[in-house]
Amino acid sequence: MMLGLMILILIFPSLLYGQEQPMGRINFNNDWRFFQGDRPDAKTSAFDDKEWRLLNLPHDWSIEGDFSDTHPATNQGGALPGGIAWYRKSFAMPITEQGKEVYIDFDGIYRNSEVWINGHYLGKRPSGYTSFRHDLTPYIKFGDAQNVIAVRVDNSKQPNSRWYTGSGIYRNVWLLSKNKIAIDHWGAFVTTPEVSDEQAKVQQITTYRNLTGETREVTLQITLYDQQGKEVVSRKSQQILTDSLTETVSELEIRNPQLWSVSNPYLYQIKTQLLDGNEVLDEHIVPLGIRHFSFDAKKGFYLNGSAVKILGVCMHHDLGALGATVNKRAMNRQLEILREMGANAIRISHNPPAPEFLDLCDEMGFLVMDEAFDMWRKKKNKFDYALDFDEWHRQDLEDLIRRDRNHPSIIMWSIGNEIREQFDSTGIALTKALVDIVKTVDKSRPVTAALTETDPEKNFIAQAGALDILGFNYKYEQYDSLPINFPNQILIASETTSALASRGHYDLGQDSLRFWPPNPKEKFVKNGNPDHTVSAYDHVAAYWGTSHEQAWRAVKERDFLAGLFVWTGFDYLGEPVPYDYPARSSYYGIVDLAGFPKDVYYLYQSEWTSKPVLHVFPHWNWKVGEIVDVWAYYNMADEVELFLNGQSLGTQKKEGNAMHVSWKVPFEPGIIKAVSRRQGNDVLTKEVATATKPKKLRLEVDRTTLQATQEDLAFISVFIEDANGNLVPKAANELSFDVKGVGFLAGLDNGFQASLTTLKGDKKEAYNGRCLAIIQTKGEKGEIKVTVRAEGIMSEEVVVQVK
Ligand code: GAL
Repeated sequence: MMLGLMILILIFPSLLYGQEQPMGRINFNNDWRFFQGDRPDAKTSAFDDKEWRLLNLPHDWSIEGDFSDTHPATNQGGALPGGIAWYRKSFAMPITEQGKEVYIDFDGIYRNSEVWINGHYLGKRPSGYTSFRHDLTPYIKFGDAQNVIAVRVDNSKQPNSRWYTGSGIYRNVWLLSKNKIAIDHWGAFVTTPEVSDEQAKVQQITTYRNLTGETREVTLQITLYDQQGKEVVSRKSQQILTDSLTETVSELEIRNPQLWSVSNPYLYQIKTQLLDGNEVLDEHIVPLGIRHFSFDAKKGFYLNGSAVKILGVCMHHDLGALGATVNKRAMNRQLEILREMGANAIRISHNPPAPEFLDLCDEMGFLVMDEAFDMWRKKKNKFDYALDFDEWHRQDLEDLIRRDRNHPSIIMWSIGNEIREQFDSTGIALTKALVDIVKTVDKSRPVTAALTETDPEKNFIAQAGALDILGFNYKYEQYDSLPINFPNQILIASETTSALASRGHYDLGQDSLRFWPPNPKEKFVKNGNPDHTVSAYDHVAAYWGTSHEQAWRAVKERDFLAGLFVWTGFDYLGEPVPYDYPARSSYYGIVDLAGFPKDVYYLYQSEWTSKPVLHVFPHWNWKVGEIVDVWAYYNMADEVELFLNGQSLGTQKKEGNAMHVSWKVPFEPGIIKAVSRRQGNDVLTKEVATATKPKKLRLEVDRTTLQATQEDLAFISVFIEDANGNLVPKAANELSFDVKGVGFLAGLDNGFQASLTTLKGDKKEAYNGRCLAIIQTKGEKGEIKVTVRAEGIMSEEVVVQVK
């Protein structure tokens, strides 16, 4: 069994592993038995689980359910089921491992997990986002005997969140077999206390365990490799291990270091080895990004000495149709889409992420605000983490910092989002206590919190004087008062915007910003659209927010704001402001839940990148004579000219600080064409034509070759087009998907927030002409053939190779 798993690692190292690679760790995701419901007797070894469903982790049972307004999570939690479930796994530990310490690591279980090994209780963990370890050593059997791990997950008390959480063992699981002398869990802490272009000092604090009960002498060897895997420098020292825990500080110097930055996320690696003569007792590899950064209260953020505006988005953890199930490629795709848009930062709202997400941020050059809590003692929902805060916050916060502190992408820790203790004096002591916990584990990064109270007299978190950076959410009209009210403080717009849109839906004739819902007294918009759409001209926002253009302008024009985090990069399940059920996912995303950009994506791309952009919208299917607002986002040009069927409708340029141009055009069918020009020369041309009936399907696959792991994905976008290849803007044809070969359908999504057909079936209606299919590999090499059908339209097929 163990051997089988070992082989698995050798074959799929890059996808199964994050950057941190302790020796003796194997992936423990396969062949778990699953039962939805409560079976208290399932904790015993003798329990017979062979009728239970067999599955591989990570797994989220909520996403497999149907949307319904009867689920206690409500539509705020995604209108999907919670409940109680059990997981069990039987395994043998080879006799060769006898005498070792054996642990199981869970990257995250939502929520209230309890774990048993061979009937012995190992403990519980209420938080659904924390990574944690259980020690199996006292109870594990070696040799042929079977061991049984049983996990009970309780997500039955609802609501416990303001957004969709998922349920189950939704992140990776690892089994570790370690020598009695080993590097401690999260026991290497690497920093770069001195960095310049000429030289960097790298410091590692290593904590190791000696469980032999005797004094032992070992060699500690630390070796630094460059991105190509070439050794740069190495240090050896003798260590006398008298106690069970020993801490050593080692320093290395690198000449002419390659600095980690958003444009060149150069990663070194540090290998730490504990040696007894030639025997490697333990080994551990962590990534190292050499960078230095600072914040200035007047001028914002500096990375490696250069001013960088933090252009960030907030992201929740769900992956659309995959639910909360962790998948590195799905996260990678989200980040690719956001990087294309020009984003350079992510605020992980409002809880610890999957470790793989941070690995990707390191590799791709995103700056990260890593956030611990959405509430402290004062709850936001009846059964949320506030109930666990007193007992668990210290451990959860310490573990988060210890787990994540080697990621170069992380530039600040956030101890909370819109915490209610900011409004009364209890906030002072709690803030100090939490900042203290963070600083005890990591002094190398600033600590912030996302606040809403801009009056210093009333903001008790700010009054604690313990935060290095004050984050403020929304209230852009008060930005100029911040440096006056909070003098010499470093400031960041920790959350902005909360504008709303459904991709490809447009309400005409709306020239002013609409607030949906309009004020704090109304929970839902009363006169919204009956079909639960929200218009995608950037002109609808929740009353506490504003348009994307307005929010970004407010930050862009103020150097004292280090940057912003837009709410949100992607739509997410749950929190479907401004509607009640059947709406069940958010309207906030710049990108929809399926990963299709909304129009405002190009606003950011035109502002945040220097690649030429010209984006013209809406679609061109209206009633004759209707007055249509035509908008364009552009950059790298002085002006845009618009034509309808060859007739010029005039040239527009962005006046003052405007970020788009627009025309009012009486509709007639045909082609609308925009041309951007610089100094009289054409830069880009974009056309939108009136579409006729749905005639064909066009399939676009993100990658045609996948890796033969169990978790690689192909994202297939389906476009419904007319005979001339124009997207049919309102097409809602039902599509059916058939997958043959070495892959399976992992999810379907059309990106519409109020679509109630399951995300886990093999049929889905298109929304505004588009749909997405996610195909997952099974772990074998070969071919995957995906056929998409729609009644009355020719079917289409795409083939993906798995190598
Ligand atoms: C903020 C909050 C976010 C989200 C957002 C929606 O106040 O921090 O978690 O709820 O509002 O607009």
